[in-house]
Amino acid sequence: MISDRMKKVVPSITLAIDAKAKQMISDGVDLVGFGAGEPDFNTPDNIKLAGIKAITENKTRYTPSSGMPDLKNLIAAKLKKDNGLDYKAGNIIVSCGAKHSLFNIFMAGLNPGDEVIIFTPYWVSYYEMANMAQATPVLVALDESKNFEIDFDLLKSKITIKTKAIIVNSPSNPTGCVLSAESLGKIAELALQNNLLIISDEIYEKNLYNGKKHISIASLSPEVKSRTVVVNGLSKSHAMTGWRIGYIAADDMELVRAMDNMQSHSTSNPATISQVAAIEACKTNPAVVQAMVSEFDRRRKHILERVRAIQGLTCVEPDGAFYVFPNFKKLIGRQIRGKKIEGSLTLADMLLTEAKVAVVPGIAFGSDIHFRMSYATSMEMIDRGLDRIEEFFK
Ligand SMILES: Cc1ncc(COP(=O)(O)O)c(C=O)c1O
Repeated sequence: MISDRMKKVVPSITLAIDAKAKQMISDGVDLVGFGAGEPDFNTPDNIKLAGIKAITENKTRYTPSSGMPDLKNLIAAKLKKDNGLDYKAGNIIVSCGAKHSLFNIFMAGLNPGDEVIIFTPYWVSYYEMANMAQATPVLVALDESKNFEIDFDLLKSKITIKTKAIIVNSPSNPTGCVLSAESLGKIAELALQNNLLIISDEIYEKNLYNGKKHISIASLSPEVKSRTVVVNGLSKSHAMTGWRIGYIAADDMELVRAMDNMQSHSTSNPATISQVAAIEACKTNPAVVQAMVSEFDRRRKHILERVRAIQGLTCVEPDGAFYVFPNFKKLIGRQIRGKKIEGSLTLADMLLTEAKVAVVPGIAFGSDIHFRMSYATSMEMIDRGLDRIEEFFK
């Protein structure tokens, strides 16, 4: 008794491993977790206090479904200051996290049968959201030997008359790679030539290292901006994952109105208390965010060095986000403690059972020769986990 729409949407294949890890923790096993897709830092105090104050001051009623005007004005100011993008409050919709923003775009912007270009490795929800919208995900493999850059001949070969949208996620989850200005320019050119909607997920914008600067593809030209929906939020930058505040900005008012309409009939406004806290977040000193990024950078360098020191693993250096994505292709087929490494699921299971370390199998991101490790955890945990992984592979 379920809709055709949901028949194609599969539960996460990593759920079994996740459930096993959780069970081990509740059984008292001393597990080192590298699975977290969220900062381990607490939400900064000024933001938490703003949330508390919102409750005591009874800011607990509905707001406009697309978000509070004050918050939208601050988001518009942020987009201008950080990204050089001119939007009015009316071009912005605040949703329950960037995931919800993306869901609104897929549902309001795509028809059944439309093709959506998704670069692989990808963040799993793009794939399943395309399925939920009854659109067709079209996977385009990134070239790992060139730091996961785009092979534009391959990309061009995947564009058909049915292609409606392309997803850009820079910095990327899971690879941490940051697209160059040149690549963004080429994507934009293809989008213009083929009349594509660009969905630009910029949620890891602040998590940048090695002097990299974030470029929003929408800032390349007014023509590109007019066909782009920028997606961003506070989850990763301000350690606010549980508050659920994300947003979109788009010039296309027909699409903005359709998304607003969808949101007004589904979730309505994101929690009022979270919106008040988000107003405070937008006013927070950028140094607070930078301090978290600096700590992530310290860990990034360390985890990368330790992963690369393990024989059989290779790892592209990530310039953004808070993940490393080691490649274990050379170890496939190897027997360890009586078990054979067949793919990312078996490896993740072996690491969990034998080494007591939780990683996310790459198959969750469309690659069975990788696993993802988040360094949103302490240096001490990084060392403890890597000691175990090293010992396991020995
Ligand atoms: C690439 C990417 N986009 C969007 C999101 C969603 O973020 P939010 O917590 O704001 O819904 C995530 C969260 O993991 C992500 O990794």
